[in-house]
Amino acid sequence: IPVDEFDLVIFGATGDLAHRKILPGLFRRWLAGQIPEGARIIGAARTQQDAAAFRAEAIAAIKEYSGTPPDAASLDSFAAHLDYIAVDATGETGWDTLAKTMRPGVIRAFYFSVAPALFGAIAERLASHGIADADSRIVVEKPFGRDLESARALNGTLAQHFAEGQIYRIDHYLGKETVQNLMAVRFANMLFEPLWNAQNIDHVQITVAETVGVAGRGSYYDQSGAIRDMVQNHMMQLLCLIAMEPPWHFDPDAVRDEKLKVIRALAPIGPEDIVRGQYRGPAEDYRADAENPDSRTESFVALKVEIANWRWTGTPFYLRTGKRLRARTSEIAVIFKEPPHSIFDESDPPANALVIKLQPNEGMTLRVNIKEPGPGGMRLVQVPLDMSFAEALGPDGTDMPDAYERLIMDVIRGNQTLFMRGDEVEAAWAWTDPIIRAWDEAAASPEAYDPGSGGPEEASRLMHRDNRRWREIR
Ligand code: BG6
Repeated sequence: IPVDEFDLVIFGATGDLAHRKILPGLFRRWLAGQIPEGARIIGAARTQQDAAAFRAEAIAAIKEYSGTPPDAASLDSFAAHLDYIAVDATGETGWDTLAKTMRPGVIRAFYFSVAPALFGAIAERLASHGIADADSRIVVEKPFGRDLESARALNGTLAQHFAEGQIYRIDHYLGKETVQNLMAVRFANMLFEPLWNAQNIDHVQITVAETVGVAGRGSYYDQSGAIRDMVQNHMMQLLCLIAMEPPWHFDPDAVRDEKLKVIRALAPIGPEDIVRGQYRGPAEDYRADAENPDSRTESFVALKVEIANWRWTGTPFYLRTGKRLRARTSEIAVIFKEPPHSIFDESDPPANALVIKLQPNEGMTLRVNIKEPGPGGMRLVQVPLDMSFAEALGPDGTDMPDAYERLIMDVIRGNQTLFMRGDEVEAAWAWTDPIIRAWDEAAASPEAYDPGSGGPEEASRLMHRDNRRWREIR
């Protein structure tokens, strides 16, 4: 179903994110028939070039980054929607032209795919040149601040020109199909929700493991580390979706209110509940990749998190994420308690587990106990009830839209459900700030781990002392 007609301005249109994600995402939506005939996508950046040059640049980027090779005719028809205006974010160049280009009566959206330091300048100029109207939307990328103070300042700056209902803070994890599925699984089935609490769930493991390192983006990453880059945003969102109460409706504020309550209920954590790691090896070395021989920034972090509320007290959530690990795999494993009493002499039934695979090979596995076949006694065996979305849903299951496709269309539709509200971002920083501060004060180095491993040995400590263990990363 096509969305309403729009003018989408992409600030930073010549940058990496526009090339890799935004333009290919828009192209795929166009192929799917969702971009209306009259829609315009206006590239805006400092580079002096004309629309033809930008179209050629966009076509090259789409060819490079959009999976299946697109045919030339489709690319040309898509490129006909593209325009370009050279704009200086902190100067005066281009703003009047942009103002004249915007059409009345169509949706206006402005994508800030630029360094956060420019957000304020752009917001201010959009307002002062009358380019944005009361219905316009702005889309802001992460990092949304680097601590509570800077996030508050950023929220304050944006709020001078835009209402909260106009601000779309992207966390691309929320655009992933399988992440949205967490809500479908929990709130559209009677099977899980009655068991979804500390009485029945022993613990939860959330893993986002990556094989990539930080080479090429070391200067950003070295200032952030895994906690700022992944935990404060993506992991926190996953945690919220797993732990939140059912919202009364699938409505932006209803969902975000419930997520916020989870973040606010996070118990402060001490150094004994965190392990930081840094990949160190002769061939692949974090400090070399980051071009900082003394770096103490973590490329891996594992944490034990407690949610201090009635539903979850007593059920820890173990989170871990890292770069240059053995495999690229993201999953959430909900480990249930063991049955309170076994009626079988031969074996105690092991705990059930529900594993939700976010990427790759999206799917869900429920580990259940059955009788091992054979004439002997009553020996139990645990088997997976396996569901791969690709198999269950056919071609539609494999052809999942990229997170950005979904999110950009939501901006045009005016649906903020999958975007972070200002208070949510601030609450997440309020929880991570003391962790980071303690690290800075301790000035200790992260534990070294081998590239291609499962992370530092010390991460197992978090689990072993609780008589638990991590699922293997593979
Ligand atoms: C980004 C982080 O937000 O998410 C990257 O900055 C990380 O460091 C990436 O690699 C992971 O996203 P995905 O979609 O590949 O899991």
